[in-house]
Amino acid sequence: MVLKGKKILIGISGSIAAYKMPLLVRLLMKEGAEVQIIMTPAARDFVTPLTLSTLSKRPVLTGPFNPVDGTWNSHVDMGNWADLMLVAPASATTLGKMANGIADNLLVTTYLAAVCPVFIAPAMDLDMFQHPSTRQNIKTLQSYGNHLIAPREGELASGLCGAGRLEEPEVILEILRDFFKGIQSWAGKKVLITAGPTVEPIDPVRYISNHSSGKMGYALAEEAIKRGADVTLVSGPVSLPAPSGVTLIKVHTAQQMLEACQKVFDASDLLIMAAAVADYRVAAVSDHKIKKQGGAGTPALDLVENPDIVKTLSAHRNDGQYIMGFALETDNELANAQSKLMSKGMDAIALNSLNEQGAGFGTDTNKVTLIHRSGISYTSGLEPKAGIAGRILDFIEETIVNP
Ligand SMILES: Cc1cc2nc3c(=O)[nH]c(=O)nc-3n(C[C@H](O)[C@H](O)[C@H](O)COP(=O)(O)O)c2cc1C
Repeated sequence: MVLKGKKILIGISGSIAAYKMPLLVRLLMKEGAEVQIIMTPAARDFVTPLTLSTLSKRPVLTGPFNPVDGTWNSHVDMGNWADLMLVAPASATTLGKMANGIADNLLVTTYLAAVCPVFIAPAMDLDMFQHPSTRQNIKTLQSYGNHLIAPREGELASGLCGAGRLEEPEVILEILRDFFKGIQSWAGKKVLITAGPTVEPIDPVRYISNHSSGKMGYALAEEAIKRGADVTLVSGPVSLPAPSGVTLIKVHTAQQMLEACQKVFDASDLLIMAAAVADYRVAAVSDHKIKKQGGAGTPALDLVENPDIVKTLSAHRNDGQYIMGFALETDNELANAQSKLMSKGMDAIALNSLNEQGAGFGTDTNKVTLIHRSGISYTSGLEPKAGIAGRILDFIEETIVNP
């Protein structure tokens, strides 16, 4: 079930072939995909939003906002959400708009904002399909990296016979399946990822922790799942849903995180330590709430150092295991990250900088410098954490092959 959990954005435009789309939506849903449908205004004359929303179990979007309550259908969010966008049927008009960036409807706006692979399945009458402007638009769209699902030859709605029929839903499904199979480059790999903060109790109601939101670690888990890996996510307390398909182990303290990792690490091919582990814990946790001293001084908190999880695990690593850690530095960033990389026996380190606006804790975006112990390094731009997760996994792929 390679399509299970895949987020598919379907753009339907005004072609008679839109009648085939409910069947394709049904097939995708049966495979366990999540389907979000956008229709052009013209498409609504060919197939009803009601049929499509019922089958996809989501509201169908036809405009940039809901005219009743004014809520905005964010094309940027949808473009980031999708693992794949399929424009089918793609009318001559929609092809022209996509090729030329004419973003006057939600479908084309979302297409321009999409960061995922895009498949385009044109459908039109044979002469429209043969017209030089249509041919040129398709060529342009292919030159931008879009994938073409070429129309079939056969009987057309006009009564003519020739190329222009939308490919059959079963075949489109197969093409999408094959595409995802092809990018399952981490199939069979067991990946252990840590995420979020650790929380070290002081007494039954108070704790020491940090601002980690877990977003980076969860994005990494989601990306590894997309690439076909078997992912265990050991997570401190965060308010994020577990990516579908991961084995989630929830922990609170650094000690619990270490123990959870120790159970899984031996059988893992890769460890990515994205959690922000507290360096210290309280030496003696009070079993009752520490009372205010009423002016008679302040309570002293005796701290002891927590175990260094990555160092502890890397000391018992097997041949071929790959370990990546994270460093969040405020000063001497590169030098500190490099020294951590070496002293903790890691293969690579991802450096976040708190000095970079939009990067680091709690944000939806990040910017990282990735350093491999061989000296290979890469600095990303500021991107959504999902995109950064992709860069990190690409870097791991590259440095596993070229250690
Ligand atoms: C009955 C009928 C069938 C149509 N079928 C197609 C078609 O298969 N392909 C196409 O490119 N246009 C077709 N059109 C024309 C489009 O609906 C029209 O160009 C529309 O503006 C497309 O807008 P859109 O791409 O924004 O949905 C058809 C029009 C009608 C009335």
